[in-house]
Amino acid sequence: MGAIALALSSCTVADTPTISDDTLPLGVAFAQTGNAALYGQESLQGAQVAAVFFNDQGNLGSYRLRLVLQDTGSDEAGAVNAFQTLINRDRVVGIVGPTLSQQAFSADPIAEQAGVPVVAASNTARGIPQLGAFISRVSAGVEAVAPTAIAAALAIDPKIRRVAVFFAQDDAFSRSETEIFQQAIRENPALELITVQQTQTTDTNFQAQINATLSLNPDLIVISGLAADGGNLIRQLRELGYQGLILGGNGVNTVNVFPVCRRFCNGVLVAQAYNPENPAPMNVKFRDAFEAQYRQMPSQFSAQAFTAVQVFAESLATLSQTRDLGQLSLAELRQALNDQLLGGTYDTPLGELRFTPEGEVLQRYFYVGQIEMSDDGQTGKFRLVKQVERQQ
Ligand code: ALA
Repeated sequence: MGAIALALSSCTVADTPTISDDTLPLGVAFAQTGNAALYGQESLQGAQVAAVFFNDQGNLGSYRLRLVLQDTGSDEAGAVNAFQTLINRDRVVGIVGPTLSQQAFSADPIAEQAGVPVVAASNTARGIPQLGAFISRVSAGVEAVAPTAIAAALAIDPKIRRVAVFFAQDDAFSRSETEIFQQAIRENPALELITVQQTQTTDTNFQAQINATLSLNPDLIVISGLAADGGNLIRQLRELGYQGLILGGNGVNTVNVFPVCRRFCNGVLVAQAYNPENPAPMNVKFRDAFEAQYRQMPSQFSAQAFTAVQVFAESLATLSQTRDLGQLSLAELRQALNDQLLGGTYDTPLGELRFTPEGEVLQRYFYVGQIEMSDDGQTGKFRLVKQVERQQ
C-alpha cells in the first residue's frame, strides 16, 4: 500500500495553474499488493501499453500523458489513501481505478467531492456510475455480462436443471453479481435454484459448503467471488468429486486464476466483456502492442484499463484542439475533461463505446469463454464459446 494521504484541500490545489511542464498527469489507482493484485497487475499492464500507444500517436500536441501509479492495496483504506494522494499531491487530471468495486464505494466519493473525473476499469458491481457526476466506467456491469453465461451453460448441456450458487458475502461486486445470476436462474422455468452458499474472499477452505451442496446433486455450480477464493473453490469442488459444469463470473476472468485452480480450471465457463480474438483493427493494434511487450495475450482487465486510458487520452486530445490546456486551472481542466469524456464515442479494443449521461458504459458485444488448461497445469486460455449482441 504505497499511498500516503496528504491533507491538502482540493480548493488550494484547484486555484493554481494545472500544468507545470508539458506532461498531463493521469492517476492510475490499481491494487499491486493483496488479493486484488491478481487483477491490478493485469490492469497496470494495459494502462502502460495505452500510455505509450497514445503518446506515440502525438494527438496531444506539445503535451504527453504521464501515468502516476498509486497502489490501492486490496482494501478500502488503501484505495482512499491512493485517491487522496493522486488528487492532492500528484495533482492528476483524472483517475483510472480503483481495482475493486468494494474499494470504489469508499474512494470514488472523494474524487466526486474534489471534482476529479474517475473512469473505472474493473468495477462491475451495480451502482458505480451512480456514485456521482465525475464517476464513469468502461467495465460493463454485472447486469450486462452475467445473464449471458447462464444461457451459454444451458446451450452446452441442455439437461441442466439443478443449480447451486456460491458467493463471497464480504465483497460488493460478488454480492451484486450473484443477484444477477440468481435472477437469471429463477427466471428460467427449466432451472431450479437448489442452494445459495455464502463464502468470504479470505476463505481458503470450502469443504463444509461444498459437502452441503454436493448432497443436493447439482447439475451446475455458479460462483461469484474474487480470483483467489474463487480459484480455490473451483479446485476443491473438483477434488471433492463434483463433475458437472462450473460457471464463474468476472472474478475468475483472469489468467492469474490458472495457477490457483490449476488443471481443475479446465472447462470452467466465464462471463466476459472482452474477446482477445476480436479481429477489429483497434483490438489487433492493442493486442500486437501488448504481446510485443508482455509476450502473452491480453486479458479483459488489461483491455479495460487500456480503454480507460484511451478515453482520457482521446478526450484530452479533443479538448486541446479548442482550449489551451496550460491556461486552465486544475479545477477547470478536470471539469472540462469530465464533460468531454462523457460525450465521446471511442473505437476501443472492447468495440465501440459510449457512455450514458450517468457514466455507465454502452458496449455492444459480450462473450462467454471456457477455460482450456495446458498440459503443464499452470497456464491456459479462455476459448470463446459464445458472443452475444446487446441492444442499447
Ligand atoms: N470486477 C471486480 C469488482 O468489481 C473486480 O470488484
